[in-house]
Amino acid sequence: MSDKPPRYASWTAGKLPLPELLELKRRGEKIVMVTAYDAPSGRLADEAGVDLILVGDSSGMVVHGRESTVAVTLDEIVFMTQWVTRGAKRPLVIADMPFGSYETSNEQAIGNAVRLVKEGGADAVKLERGGTSVERAKAVVDSGIPVMGHVGLTPQTATVLGGFKAQGRTAEQAQALIDDALALQSAGCFAIVLEAVPAAVAAAATRALDVPTIGIGAGGDTDGQVLVWHDMLGYYEGHAPRFVKRYAELGKTIVEALGRYAEDVRSGAFPEEQHTYAMPEGERESFELKASSQPR
Ligand code: KIV
Repeated sequence: MSDKPPRYASWTAGKLPLPELLELKRRGEKIVMVTAYDAPSGRLADEAGVDLILVGDSSGMVVHGRESTVAVTLDEIVFMTQWVTRGAKRPLVIADMPFGSYETSNEQAIGNAVRLVKEGGADAVKLERGGTSVERAKAVVDSGIPVMGHVGLTPQTATVLGGFKAQGRTAEQAQALIDDALALQSAGCFAIVLEAVPAAVAAAATRALDVPTIGIGAGGDTDGQVLVWHDMLGYYEGHAPRFVKRYAELGKTIVEALGRYAEDVRSGAFPEEQHTYAMPEGERESFELKASSQPR
């Protein structure tokens, strides 16, 4: 048994049991989710007591410097999931299914979800949108892999949505968004991400759904929250959406540290004695003697 506080109804050491998420919703306790893309960030998120880690295709933008998530490949997500699962032991690790990895057929969706679980070590997968994704989600759930849905602003299809902007802002769109979330729940999804939707719509969706909602830019009434690692830690220089709260300024800290390093290298202040390896005295003398007798 761990000596961590008994936050979960049935605390056991090891992986957070998936059914605990429903219990957290029932008890009104918020679920904490963050993205991560490598082993150190997985380990740090685990150490901080985060419940869910998303190996998001946001990596395409915040790690790999692309303009959107569309070009992210399944292989990239498989690799990153392997790294994250080496670092994170307690949190459930959810691997994003990138654009083009589940749209064609149920067979394609199942095959690629299986890769994320078998090769990547993911505990669950996430896919975007309602519509045809509902059938894909059901097929993947039926194959034995837990699926998280994602509605509202779905970055993989941002072009169709008119860009990276809030969704569900008319009564009709809001109802359609809630219908999509309900359909994903009926398909067997264990939780639904609500991205960039008005707080009132997210609150209504959270009441309507039995499974937990995880909000990002969806107000405070969802069952949990998710933020992108680089956005929340100040480690990304691109445009951060208005819903991001910065909890650190790692970018500034890193530039400052690299600047001091450059200064020390140029001035000779680094390395110091403590950063170098010595030779036993006798060996050093004999080496210097040999070196001095060598023809130049
Ligand atoms: O890829 C991602 O990081 C996401 C979150 C923004 C929910 O999908």
